[in-house]
Amino acid sequence: MSITPPEQKVWFNEPVEKTEVIWVIIALTWALIMFAMMPLWHLKGTQNMSNEAYRIQPDVYQARVDAFVEKFKVGEEGHAKTPVVRPPAGSDVYMMARLWEWYPVLELEKGKSYRLHLSSLDWQHGFSVQPANINLQVHPGIDEVVTITPTDSGDFGIICNEYCGIGHHTMLGKIRVVAGK
Ligand code: CUA
Repeated sequence: MSITPPEQKVWFNEPVEKTEVIWVIIALTWALIMFAMMPLWHLKGTQNMSNEAYRIQPDVYQARVDAFVEKFKVGEEGHAKTPVVRPPAGSDVYMMARLWEWYPVLELEKGKSYRLHLSSLDWQHGFSVQPANINLQVHPGIDEVVTITPTDSGDFGIICNEYCGIGHHTMLGKIRVVAGK
């Protein structure tokens, strides 16, 4: 450490230390491999989810979610009486994030595909499906759409994993996957 200026004014003309060159090459090579893997993971394997994103006003999104819940509600769950919604297979389904809940509970059919819409009414939240390897940021003003096809039945918990204030750890939701009729 030094608090005086370097002796050579034009210090960047000095030869670079050999170990530093090696580390730069290793890091650059790895970065290029990962750069190529990003699109490859979309095509092969199920590592990266392909999504669409649209701008939307939070109140417009809320109105769509309310209409969706109204139309396909089949019950209520928990002390907050969160609606349980069972939309038809292949349709557009909505999950809304707000301080501090995921709304509503979705009941989906195993093996069927759905267009899942995600957005927030207030701050940034993190949509993490347990124990699946699905982890998406949810922003206010952005309607993010991912196509999902549940492969296992059961209850899947949703936790928020972007810190969103005092109730962050209580922000839990659920997707229930049921076997088809
Ligand atoms: Cu929502 Cu943390």
